[in-house]
Amino acid sequence: MSKLTGSVMDRLVALCKRRGFVYPASGIYGGINGFWDYGPMGVQLKNNVRDHWWRAMVESPPLGPDGEPVSIVGLDSSIIQNPKTWVASGHVDGFNDPMVDCRETKSRYRADQIMCAEVRREKGGEVQSLGWMGVLEGETVLDDFTKRAAKLVKKTGGGELIAPDEFTEFTQLDESVRSTVIGPDAKEAGTLTEPRDFNLMFETFVGAIRDDKAKAYLRPETAQGIFLNYKNVLDSMRVKVPFGIAQIGKAFRNEVTPRNFIFRSREFEQMEMEWFCSEEEVPKWYEFWKEQRMAWWESLGVTKERLRFRDHDSNELAHYSDACVDVEYIYPFTAPDYGELEGIAHRGNYDLTTHAKHSKAKLEYFDPETNSRYMPHVVEPAAGLTRAVLVLLCEAYAVDESRPSPELLKFPPQFAPIKAGIFPLVAKDGMPEIARPIYEDVRKRWPAQFDVKQSIGKRYARMDEVGAPYCFTIDGETKENGTVTVRDRDTGAQERIDKSRVVEFLTDKLGA
Ligand code: GAP
Repeated sequence: MSKLTGSVMDRLVALCKRRGFVYPASGIYGGINGFWDYGPMGVQLKNNVRDHWWRAMVESPPLGPDGEPVSIVGLDSSIIQNPKTWVASGHVDGFNDPMVDCRETKSRYRADQIMCAEVRREKGGEVQSLGWMGVLEGETVLDDFTKRAAKLVKKTGGGELIAPDEFTEFTQLDESVRSTVIGPDAKEAGTLTEPRDFNLMFETFVGAIRDDKAKAYLRPETAQGIFLNYKNVLDSMRVKVPFGIAQIGKAFRNEVTPRNFIFRSREFEQMEMEWFCSEEEVPKWYEFWKEQRMAWWESLGVTKERLRFRDHDSNELAHYSDACVDVEYIYPFTAPDYGELEGIAHRGNYDLTTHAKHSKAKLEYFDPETNSRYMPHVVEPAAGLTRAVLVLLCEAYAVDESRPSPELLKFPPQFAPIKAGIFPLVAKDGMPEIARPIYEDVRKRWPAQFDVKQSIGKRYARMDEVGAPYCFTIDGETKENGTVTVRDRDTGAQERIDKSRVVEFLTDKLGA
């Protein structure tokens, strides 16, 4: 019998809290919906992914389609910019989600996340409708619906519930049907309001006076900081179109329904690159970046079969976008469906044009080769750093019931927050004295933990749960012949190596 209970996500969230990856923000005050804190292990994991992206984009970007290295420079712009930025970019008017309130429960939902079906029963040889019911989109739509619908059937005289053929988004229903739906948490029918637009930007005030003139916004995407600095970069760096500007940083969206752990939160991190090129070259670069970005996700060790591209339909495109493809992943809470990881968009020259118009700055590019001026077009790979962390956690999570503590995180060693545990078997007999210098050597190069307390089994289990790929144990034999055991996290197998070879062993496995 399994010792584990709950869904994979429930267990992963619990493990993340227990082992210092992710905590609910403001936990001691009951939390705050949509915000998360990254603990000692989480921040290390996140930084490893961040550095991997920065290296692949800025420090060592790929060779372009012509075999020449592409040119990308980095940026770290302010979270708060002049509010005119967001008027020009279209976010003040257009960055909205359709929102629905429930008059009965006072809950608020994103209209496109309420999935509806008709509750039908068979009673006395007759099929009857008990009206429409909504449940929240996700892993358990059918289960949630069945549970609630079965209760309704029982309460209203019994019969056999007929499973729904399909679910329809609330927004796609006729208005007359929408006004009769039983909301996701409601008992009564018809308590959901009509969908209304809700702007996702967080507002704040700059300076001492809190009036409309002082209103500013927390950036909902890192991209605009790049457009605002495009001219600065052109004027201060030796770059020529085509080139890219990359940025990693926080973004904020007042999501109507933040959920699925860190998948959709109100404060998150993005890794975005704006690639400036001529309009004619857009198709070439769009294909190039699509391919590169998929290769990057695979370089995180993500299972290929769980990744795919999905082209956006024209009605899904953001207000600035001419074409967009998402990189998607099968998360435990979307399975067997996919959820978004990254968007690769052709933004046209919308952003530079609108900022030139609103600011009166001259943002056209002068091409010395053709002696002409034009507004570059933009291809934008925009990924979520915190979503990448989630994918690494989902991919790494494994269960081995044969171990005393059955859960482990099999991170690729490169991304593991801790690379090695150094353990004297017992805290006596000279073992800590032998272990200490080994630990000191290892920690010069990699994050490592030295631990003398508790049974060795417990120490291994803790390292398995934080995903440390190797543990070195100093035992009685070390004193006799100078060898230590190396334990492999994934197999639990142990071998002996000379204590002088520990750093060499890790260099071999982890790289420099
Ligand atoms: N500049 C384009 C842009 O921001 P987006 O598709 O809205 O495009 C890019 O966001 C990526 O940012 C998404 O693919 C996702 O990985 C991440 N992201 C967006 N909203 C998020 C949220 N509420 N929580 C976590 N990550 C989010």
